[in-house]
Amino acid sequence: MEQQRQSSSRLSFLHLSCVIFLSTLVSCQLDYKYYDDTCPNLTRIVRYGVWSAISNDTRMAASLLRLHFHDCFVNLTAETILFHFLMQGCDGSVLLDDTSTTKGEKNAFPNRNSARGFEVIDAIKANLEKACPATVSCTDILTLVAREAVFLGGGPFWAVPLGRRDGLTASESEANNLPSPFEPLENITAKFTARGLDLKDVVVLSGGHTIGFAQCLSFKNRLFDFSGSGKPDPTLDASLLQSLQSTCPSQADSDTKLVALDSVTTNKFDNIYFQNLVNKSGLLQSDQALMGDNRTAAMVQYYSKYPYFFSKDFGASMVRMAKIGVLTGQDGEIRKNCRVVN
Ligand code: HEM
Ligand SMILES: *[C@@H]1O[C@H](CO)[C@@H](O)[C@H](O)[C@H]1NC(C)=O
Ligand SMILES: *[C@@H]1O[C@H](CO)[C@@H](O)[C@H](O)[C@H]1NC(C)=O
Ligand SMILES: *[C@@H]1O[C@H](CO)[C@@H](O)[C@H](O)[C@H]1NC(C)=O
Ligand SMILES: *[C@@H]1O[C@H](CO)[C@@H](O)[C@H](O)[C@H]1NC(C)=O
Ligand SMILES: *[C@@H]1O[C@H](CO)[C@@H](O)[C@H](O)[C@H]1NC(C)=O
Ligand SMILES: *[C@@H]1O[C@H](CO)[C@@H](O)[C@H](O)[C@H]1NC(C)=O
Repeated sequence: MEQQRQSSSRLSFLHLSCVIFLSTLVSCQLDYKYYDDTCPNLTRIVRYGVWSAISNDTRMAASLLRLHFHDCFVNLTAETILFHFLMQGCDGSVLLDDTSTTKGEKNAFPNRNSARGFEVIDAIKANLEKACPATVSCTDILTLVAREAVFLGGGPFWAVPLGRRDGLTASESEANNLPSPFEPLENITAKFTARGLDLKDVVVLSGGHTIGFAQCLSFKNRLFDFSGSGKPDPTLDASLLQSLQSTCPSQADSDTKLVALDSVTTNKFDNIYFQNLVNKSGLLQSDQALMGDNRTAAMVQYYSKYPYFFSKDFGASMVRMAKIGVLTGQDGEIRKNCRVVN
């Protein structure tokens, strides 16, 4: 019912808005020098904010990287692709708090009790508002923060084109549609291609799981009775299985315990994630599934051997991801506080 009302109001909007669509089509690309004149200390301020957060809590590098992914990956529907002021890609929507009238993304299933790092973004935004008021979008902050988090975590550095603007809406239902660790590779791949990314981006960006943690509930289905077989997932290494079974016993009260996504080099952004997959030591079902398809398995093998190419390709895929559904020019706004629309 709610769903229906939403889509019919979108459709009526659609008929009214063709002119705006045509005029925004010609506007505005992202630009590496976007804030060079208006906020010359931007990179320094962001780097300091990420550095202090990670110094206090190593895991924060992972949490911040994931926040950017979740911002960019909320659903796109046919209408929203045509009318991009309605589109919800990288638009800072994940940062919005719930209001009395709208439910945001923070409480959507993939984010609730899981997404973290919002205070880090707030602190950086506050410093930026002092240095260059009403200038830098929360969406660009999140994009730069993800780059700094990877770099400070020992990973690659890449140049980030800027000029994104902040969206005016958030959608809990659309955030519920983020890729799930329980869906098959084909479904995950479909979600990537729907956003203009490809199979290589699926493999490369999954490499983000070289840092950070997952709760037992995100992979427990593999440990005892996998897909109703009465047995554990056969693609899971026996000694890792044993250790996971003891950390995550089948009682529900273990659901929120944390396990490293990369048990070998947990806090280091490197290519060991891919070596783990080769060794049947991927934590999530969706991680190990990359070895279950010849095309992705070949890429996993490659990145497990060539850290340099993983670093290089990761930066390129992050730049592609950070362009999904961006608002530019006059669209959206520059939020003053990342948690609320102005
Ligand atoms: C390909 C589809 C993906 C799936 C199914 C997926 C799923 C998950 C799940 C289930 C968790 C653990 C959440 C929890 O238990 O609370 C997680 C954590 C994480 N994900 Fe993904 N993810 C995907 C792609 C990505 C991408 C593209 C990135 C970034 C480039 C990423 C970065 C992370 C990081 C860094 C963490 C750890 C966060 C922390 O420790 O706070 N993931 N992911
Ligand atoms: C940038 O930061 C430096 C060092 O903190 C400071 O001296 C300078 O005034 C800042 N520049 C601007 C334009 O805010
Ligand atoms: C440091 O990290 C802890 C969690 O590990 C958090 O509770 C605390 O608020 C953080 N302190 C600062 C100053 O960021
Ligand atoms: C999101 O996209 C999926 C396909 O990936 C579609 O089945 C679903 O209905 C969409 N959800 C919303 C809320 O638009
Ligand atoms: C995968 O996608 C298909 C087609 O959209 C859908 O029917 C199926 O339920 C999905 N599987 C999972 C586990 O989400
Ligand atoms: C994967 O297995 C190979 C061969 O058994 C071993 O040399 C390597 O150290 C393992 N890598 C990891 C990350 O466990
Ligand atoms: C994929 O690999 C399997 C063996 O691992 C092989 O039997 C199959 O023919 C391969 N498929 C393709 C499309 O290469």
